[in-house]
Amino acid sequence: MELFEKIEAAKAFIQDIYNEKIDFAIVLGSGLTNFEREIEIIHQIEYHKIPHFPISTVKGHQGKLIIGKMGNKTVICQSGRFHYYEGYSMEQVTFPIRIFKKLGIDNLIVTNAAGGLNEAQEVGDIVVIRDHINLQPEHPLRGPNDERFGPRFPDMMYAYDQNWVENAYQFGVANQYRIHKGVYVGVQGPTFETPAEYQFFNRIGGDAVGMSTVPEVIVANHMKMRVLGLSIIADCGYPFDKMKEISHEEVLEMAAKAEPKVTEIVKFIIRS
Ligand code: HPA
Repeated sequence: MELFEKIEAAKAFIQDIYNEKIDFAIVLGSGLTNFEREIEIIHQIEYHKIPHFPISTVKGHQGKLIIGKMGNKTVICQSGRFHYYEGYSMEQVTFPIRIFKKLGIDNLIVTNAAGGLNEAQEVGDIVVIRDHINLQPEHPLRGPNDERFGPRFPDMMYAYDQNWVENAYQFGVANQYRIHKGVYVGVQGPTFETPAEYQFFNRIGGDAVGMSTVPEVIVANHMKMRVLGLSIIADCGYPFDKMKEISHEEVLEMAAKAEPKVTEIVKFIIRS
């Protein structure tokens, strides 16, 4: 079955449950577990019930779509993300994004926990992603292009909506958050970086490095969605004296600590 038909089937399943306008899709990154409390839940749909939907495996991730209200806007929240390092194909990693667009949603907010690559950062800081560098080994748009989704050669000049970048950043500054605008480097993982790799990613212009986000943002751009990306700095990789040994548990813990700030930024963008 072609991807387009799979997406149509998944979309139809969701529309049977909820068929009103949804304004925003939100992808929750590692450790962002309390965000759901901000949503007045209308429906929760477990992944395994949705036709062709992948199932999530990694610790700190559940597996459901949550449809609900945030203020006067309707959102769909992807709680439980698919990472390429888990063995999913890029088609699976980006499957939810294609459904969101086909549900008529034009606005996407993606969040993640990331490693810091900039001297100015501390653990718990927020980076508003203004651009990315794709170093993942596989491209989600490789293969025959289906024009029903988007063009063969999508432009990536404004992969992240620059008004949202500025608004999110200014909101953080006004609230005295430790916040930066920066470039996200997307890698495969699952290893964290060696000191030399963190240094390399700093030198090529990166401010944050992580194992997600880039495929979803590429596919969102393929389908002409407007994107906001937020990273929580869960560990510092550069310069070397700031680097410490880390574990996935610590990343989740640090992300959870900074989550309230991300939540406030997301609420602000949705409101405005
Ligand atoms: N590197 C890659 N991915 C990450 C990191 C990191 O240091 N921290 C959280 N996700």
